[in-house]
Amino acid sequence: MKIDILTIFPAVCSVPLGESMMKRAQEGGQLDLAVHDLREWTTDKHRRVDDTPYGGGQGMVMKPEPFFAAVEELRTPETKVVLMTPQGQRLGQPAVEAMASEAHLIILCGHYEGVDHRVVEALVDYEISIGDYVLTNGAIAAAVLVDAVVRLIPGVLGDERSAEEESFSAEGGRILEAPCYTKPGDFRGMAVPEVLLSGHHGKIGEWKKAQAVERTRENRPDLLE
Ligand code: ADE
Repeated sequence: MKIDILTIFPAVCSVPLGESMMKRAQEGGQLDLAVHDLREWTTDKHRRVDDTPYGGGQGMVMKPEPFFAAVEELRTPETKVVLMTPQGQRLGQPAVEAMASEAHLIILCGHYEGVDHRVVEALVDYEISIGDYVLTNGAIAAAVLVDAVVRLIPGVLGDERSAEEESFSAEGGRILEAPCYTKPGDFRGMAVPEVLLSGHHGKIGEWKKAQAVERTRENRPDLLE
C-alpha cells in the first residue's frame, strides 16, 4: 500500500510513523510511506500556504493552490484522497478497514481555521475526524489514521488473529475486549482470576465474553444500544 501525507509539519507524522510496527511495515515493503512538506508546492518567495478568510472571521484559511498542485502531481487513477479535519465523519474501525483495502491514499492535513472548501469539493473522497475535539493541526490525526490502517495490511501484524479478535473489529462484534493478565499470578495480593489458570477453554471463553459485556456496559454503554 502507498500513502502520501501532505502537511506543513512533516516531523509530526514522520517521527511516530518511523517506529516499531510502522517502521517494520516500510522495511518489509508492505507500506510505501512518504511524508511531504506542503510548502514544496508553493510558488511564491514566502512559501505561503494560508490567507485571510473571505467573509471575515477569525484566523487564517489554507490556500487551495498548493493542495491542488500536490494532489495533481501525486495521484494516480486508483488514488483516494483523505482530508483530516474536525468537520469530517468520525473515524471508526469500519472506515479504517475500508481504507486498508485501498491501494493508494493521499492524506491532506489541515491547519489554522480550515482548508479552502474548493479543495474538499474537487479533490477529497473522505473527510475524516478522529474525534470530537480540536487538535492544533491535522498531522497528528493523520498519524493516528495511518497507524490504524497500516496494522490491518496483511503481514504487518505478527499474529493475524490479533487484529480480527480485538475490540471494534467485525469479528470482535464491536464491543470492548475482556481484561487481560500476565505473570505474576499474584501481584501485591491481587490475584489473577482463577478461571484463567484452569486450562478449561470453554469456561475461559464464557468468562471473557461476560467480562467483555460488563466492561462495555461500564465504559461504552453506547455500543450496546
Ligand atoms: N484537525 C484538528 N482536529 C482534528 C480532528 N479531531 N480530527 C482530524 N483532524 C483534525
